[in-house]
Amino acid sequence: MTTTTAPKTYRVKSFGCQMNVYDGDRMGELLTEQGLTAAAEGDDADLVVLNTCHIREKAAEKVYSDIGRLKREDGSAPLIAVAGCVAQAEGEEIMKRAPSVKMVVGPQAYHRLPDMLARANNGERVTDTDMPAETKFDALPKRRRSGTSAFLTVQEGCDKFCTYCVVPYTRGAEISRPYGDLIEEAKRLVDAGAREITLLGQNVNAWTGENAKGQTVGLEGLIREMDALPDLARIRYTTSHPNDMAQGLIDAHGDVGKLMPYLHLPVQSGSDRILRLMNRSHSVESYLAVLDRVRAVRPDIAISGDFIVGFPGESEQDFADTLKIIDQVGYAAAFSFKYSPRPGTPAATMDEQISAEVMDERLKRLQALMIEKQVAFNAASVGKVTDVLVEKRGRQPGQWLGKSPWLQSVHFEGDFAVGDLVRVELVQAGPNSLAGKLI
Ligand code: 5AD
Ligand code: SF4
Repeated sequence: MTTTTAPKTYRVKSFGCQMNVYDGDRMGELLTEQGLTAAAEGDDADLVVLNTCHIREKAAEKVYSDIGRLKREDGSAPLIAVAGCVAQAEGEEIMKRAPSVKMVVGPQAYHRLPDMLARANNGERVTDTDMPAETKFDALPKRRRSGTSAFLTVQEGCDKFCTYCVVPYTRGAEISRPYGDLIEEAKRLVDAGAREITLLGQNVNAWTGENAKGQTVGLEGLIREMDALPDLARIRYTTSHPNDMAQGLIDAHGDVGKLMPYLHLPVQSGSDRILRLMNRSHSVESYLAVLDRVRAVRPDIAISGDFIVGFPGESEQDFADTLKIIDQVGYAAAFSFKYSPRPGTPAATMDEQISAEVMDERLKRLQALMIEKQVAFNAASVGKVTDVLVEKRGRQPGQWLGKSPWLQSVHFEGDFAVGDLVRVELVQAGPNSLAGKLI
């Protein structure tokens, strides 16, 4: 067995969703605990972790080209680990095809990285795509660092099995992390400087747990407890499923001051026929009814969504129904994707797959309408006086960038520090940002 020099510096590159960003941060913390340091911007790292995403097209091909690009001019390469959902789905194949990869680690096994690293340092190639009974969270180091805006995974996995989606296979079954652990992690993040915490889960609003009094509570229970943390200013959560939008959570939007007026609630399609084929287990009507209930307690709430165009069998009429719901809801933002057949999912083998040309054309039309809606939403904000959370300096001297409660980017001038909440009047709107004036 060959012994390689142990890596001293690392870089974690995360792709895909916010949960991957969270996982990437946690892997970094684990490696730091092992005595490695994060490589400085622009420097080569001894160990590179590619934290991959499998949700859409060409995920695996992208990983192979990223691996190829890690080769340095002198022909040497860093120690490479592939993590994330592509690792989970295609770990064995990666080990076969890419000899430079020394570690493959799935999203539920990355707490074992230190042990894997020790073995890789001994010249072994190690794969761990287990979904162990023990939770990785217990084995991760305590949180010590945080930016102004932090992520906190509270729920993971999915039992819904939408027919297009790989998540139930790559992330596994739904689990809710325990209440006490989450409150502790939230406190540590706040102590480390977080002013905003975004609670993460594939079905975050399905989170459930037992509070300090032994009562079973839903996500609103956590949110209400976090509302009491003095130095925390803002709470957000994502992503929610329409069927898990319990009244308790909706009520929290009406009376929890720190819960921001923003709800990411994907509908995917505006056609009941397609929603059935997708196994979404909700209809257009039941989705709109949820929004009505939320708007009843929080009329100014911003709604964002996800849309898939070109799902197998989607007719021009089905697509027109999707445009109709976008028009009707008045989304503040949306993410839209061309349907991508994912190996192993039921939709991948359905009849009537839609051609690339039709998907391209539909995506363009959908995005054009979305921009119109986003512009209208931003324009309607002009004149509002609101708090902006300062995130970083802007490009112009004296300029700062921050976020409105409705997750809009706002730029403004003045003398601040990152993490300040400043009162501004929104004075001008563009499609992607607003200008604010200090009050
Ligand atoms: N093809 C295209 N988009 C997908 N999404 C999930 N799976 C697929 C797929 N196979 C989109 C959904 C989901 C978002 C995270 O990614 O819109 O809400
Ligand atoms: Fe995927 Fe559907 Fe679960 Fe969301 S709810 S993670 S789209 S299976």
